[in-house]
Amino acid sequence: MNILNEWYFWLRAFHIISVIAWMAGMFYLPRLYVYHADVAPGTPASELFKVMERRLMRIIINPAMLAAFLFGGLLLITPGVVDWSAGWIHVKLTALFLMTAYHGFLSRWRRAFERDQNPHSARFYRLMNEVPTVLMIVIVIMVVVKPF
Ligand code: HEM
Repeated sequence: MNILNEWYFWLRAFHIISVIAWMAGMFYLPRLYVYHADVAPGTPASELFKVMERRLMRIIINPAMLAAFLFGGLLLITPGVVDWSAGWIHVKLTALFLMTAYHGFLSRWRRAFERDQNPHSARFYRLMNEVPTVLMIVIVIMVVVKPF
């Protein structure tokens, strides 16, 4: 038996753990942006939000994403796990591409806040906050139900 097959359930468990941490950060960070967008640059509140956003991104979101890709990638190459002729894995990977692009935008918006050059309103971030929720729902239904 291939070593990946022997460790399949551990890989799946660590994949789910890292995905939960990644999503927790992806849901929380845009929430901080909603409130940060309503305070004036240079104020103590704005400086505090910068510290919270930087730590959330560097200590939780980025490492959790890397771990989700590591364990997800190992699951992808585990013999017998993915039937590439099925539709679910292609929809999952497309939603995953969009989730990763969203992560990139969160990082770009954080750097704009860091430079006191945030271009967006609190309403914009409230709307953006829904994106990872919709993508997460699509991804989990695809990988658990495998509808096609
Ligand atoms: C980061 C890149 C990712 C890759 C390469 C990947 C790939 C995979 C693969 C191959 C499986 C195993 C499927 C099976 O055992 O039948 C899996 C399981 C799973 N993935 Fe991902 N995934 C990734 C990201 C995500 C994300 C972002 C989420 C949720 C938002 C997610 C949620 C899940 C869940 C819940 C399972 C377990 C399904 C079960 O136990 O039935 N994955 N993933």
